[in-house]
Amino acid sequence: MNRSILTVVMIGLLVWSCADTAQAAADREKLLKDPGVYGSFAVFKIDGDWWRLDKTTRGSAAAEVKAIFQKHADTVTADTYLLRGLSEKADFFVRVHSMEMLNNQNFLVDLMGTTFGKYIQNTDTFNGITKMANYVPAFPDVLKEAMKTPPDPGPKSYVIVVPIRKDAEWWITAQDGRGTMMKEHADATVTYLKTVKRKLYHSSGLDDLDFITYFETAKLDDFNNLVIGLQRVNENHHNKQFGSPTLLGTIHSLDDILEIFSR
Ligand code: HEM
Repeated sequence: MNRSILTVVMIGLLVWSCADTAQAAADREKLLKDPGVYGSFAVFKIDGDWWRLDKTTRGSAAAEVKAIFQKHADTVTADTYLLRGLSEKADFFVRVHSMEMLNNQNFLVDLMGTTFGKYIQNTDTFNGITKMANYVPAFPDVLKEAMKTPPDPGPKSYVIVVPIRKDAEWWITAQDGRGTMMKEHADATVTYLKTVKRKLYHSSGLDDLDFITYFETAKLDDFNNLVIGLQRVNENHHNKQFGSPTLLGTIHSLDDILEIFSR
């Protein structure tokens, strides 16, 4: 191959690989924003035997886990969270998003099939789907605008996940009645829009739950006051299950989590 052909081929490869990277990043953004995306939360406890393995074995098991995340990166986006130290029941959880629940399952089955997977117990799994807002479109304009307030930029080190199940009365209440209660719910949250970032998953029929509520914040005191405020509104009478379990943890990259587990 002469030099000029080689240069063209190399430029082509570079452009292709940059476009590919941009595509993967764009997909993550879409998966975290769009309606119609399937979310799975898989919670794990690490066996005592894992910590008795030597450092080298834990290090190579960690590399195997990393390879599984990479293998599925074109179909799922997976985020990792540390629960260890803040929960006696579980050590970490993974939040997986994709356009098909099957992709979430394939990823989690592969993760559980690794060497590390043999040392972890799957203590809970929640499944849901993201949807367009149901009540916000009928809110008064001022509240509708307030709901668009983006959370303050900057690191949010904490994660909270609260599974919720509504009672039968909630579901047989007409849309208007539920809308009035959800307006009251939203009114109680306005003070916290800047410090609490939220995401809602619908789970009816896909799990024993109706909703998975997911939050990120740097201010746990704000989150505590937010929930106290929400417990005072009428919609709260219809929460048949609130938490059980509530997951409180910290947000970490996969590399961080693996480093902590192979220390
Ligand atoms: C900054 C904090 C929060 C804001 C701004 C907020 C706002 C909202 C809004 C506007 C909706 C209606 C979405 C729609 O139109 O479909 C909603 C739904 C919901 N929120 Fe919140 N919320 C917050 C915190 C919480 C917390 C802490 C919980 C419970 C742990 C919670 C539980 C729910 C549930 C279960 C729904 C779904 C209700 C349904 O569709 O029947 N929210 N939230």
